[in-house]
Amino acid sequence: MATFYDFGLSESVIKATTRMGFEETTSIQELAIPIAMGSKDIIGQAQTGTGKTAAFGIPMLEKIISNNNSVQGLVITPTRELAVQVAEEINTLGQFKKVRALPIYGGQDIQRQIKALKNKPEIIVATPGRLMDHMRRKLIRLHHLETIVLDEADEMLNMGFREDIENILSEVPSNRQTMLFSATMPQPIKDLAQRFMNNPEFIRIKPKEITVPNTEQYYYQVQEKEKFDALCRILDLHSPEAAIVFARTKRRVDELLEALNKRGYSAEAIHGDLTQPKRDSVMNKFKNGTTEILVATDVAARGLDIGSVTHVYNFDIPQDSENYVHRIGRTGRVGKPGIAATFVSHREQNHLEQIERSIKRKIYRKPVPTINEAVEGQQRLTAEKLMQLIGNGDHLKYKDVAREMLESTDALSLLAAALKMLTKEPDLTPVKITAEEPRAPKKSKQAERKNWSTGSRHKAGSYKNRSGYKKKHKHS
Ligand SMILES: Nc1ncnc2c1ncn2[C@@H]1O[C@H](COP(=O)(O)OP(=O)(O)OP(=O)(O)O)[C@@H](O)[C@H]1O
Ligand SMILES: [Mg+2]
Repeated sequence: MATFYDFGLSESVIKATTRMGFEETTSIQELAIPIAMGSKDIIGQAQTGTGKTAAFGIPMLEKIISNNNSVQGLVITPTRELAVQVAEEINTLGQFKKVRALPIYGGQDIQRQIKALKNKPEIIVATPGRLMDHMRRKLIRLHHLETIVLDEADEMLNMGFREDIENILSEVPSNRQTMLFSATMPQPIKDLAQRFMNNPEFIRIKPKEITVPNTEQYYYQVQEKEKFDALCRILDLHSPEAAIVFARTKRRVDELLEALNKRGYSAEAIHGDLTQPKRDSVMNKFKNGTTEILVATDVAARGLDIGSVTHVYNFDIPQDSENYVHRIGRTGRVGKPGIAATFVSHREQNHLEQIERSIKRKIYRKPVPTINEAVEGQQRLTAEKLMQLIGNGDHLKYKDVAREMLESTDALSLLAAALKMLTKEPDLTPVKITAEEPRAPKKSKQAERKNWSTGSRHKAGSYKNRSGYKKKHKHS
């Protein structure tokens, strides 16, 4: 692997990468940085959690002239949380060059954004809708733009932002550099590339292995009415440090959250109907470890980088293989181990096989743990915590009481009683989770084209837009 000294980067950027603990470049960085430094347009595809942000962020920063009062770099992302995260990473990379990246997104007070724009940031990281808003009001001018990046480009088309993206691309200087990045690059993205990019270089890392090898992938076969009890048992057995549970709709997410809380789990939820302050506080609590379980719609499927996530559970099977890749990509980042478990009903078996074919990997079946296995899992966890406490010496001031108790009761009974008190036992409090039909999986490309030309509508309110993509609920 190359190091960041190999590309003729400025000292300030190298210093930042060292400060961030980056020792070597990742594969996508090694390939993309030198090509992007030559101002070429790029379509970059590499697995989730492999440092695509720095792969475009570093060349973008290198071209910026700080304090020249104009926006020179623009990154567009599909969700608000991703805009905040990408701006943070670019700010950290640009800290010694004194370049400022400002996140601009819907749901945030517009006056506050207008004030922040007066400080003349060199880079803007935005969601498409709010960016268009500012461009219309002439509060953001892009005449001096040098670099534009569409992060998760395919998802923005999926979400029906095609027109907004085309408008933005047609309003920025034609000699700018354009880069598209994602872990998945389905065909219709090439359309956009042809129209708006200048002879782009297609950089792909390991196209055969779309998912990361260090994430263990398996599924549980469960029927809808058994799903929630199965989830609880699995959570008890795994005791994840930090887990994301994906569900198919906002209502399912709300109900799952309520149900998990009723049964004593530390969970929070995120979806597009929550206010932005609520979304921010949920994300902060999950990032700092206050909450162990994040229940989410696909709003959290793309790009989010929370290193502590050990487990991803697809409570509802993802709509298509791209969604699967991105959802499970929230764990197993930068070479860390991860576990991704998907709940599949009998009827969804074909859909699972379709995902396996697309990702060219077998997702093997595991039996749902029994109640006894779940209880054992919790008991083991309590025992581990006790041993850790002893290791830390935190128990010493309890020794006198312990001695007194040992005079009247045997040690084994005492310890067993203490374990029982500390162990979370299965809770079968009744909960309500409303069943919801999955949306139809994507049809073959040919069928999609046919449907598009006849303008036929699709089930569950989703329909094809001009690109042949299904329009999903906007979740930014
Ligand atoms: N060279 C490097 N060495 C070590 N860590 C790195 C390196 N480059 C980036 N990282 C870190 O790796 C993590 C994942 O990076 P990033 O979010 O850019 O991945 P990504 O490829 O965009 O993933 P996704 O497809 O999910 O959006 C981040 O925490 C980032 O700071
Ligand atoms: Mg990313």
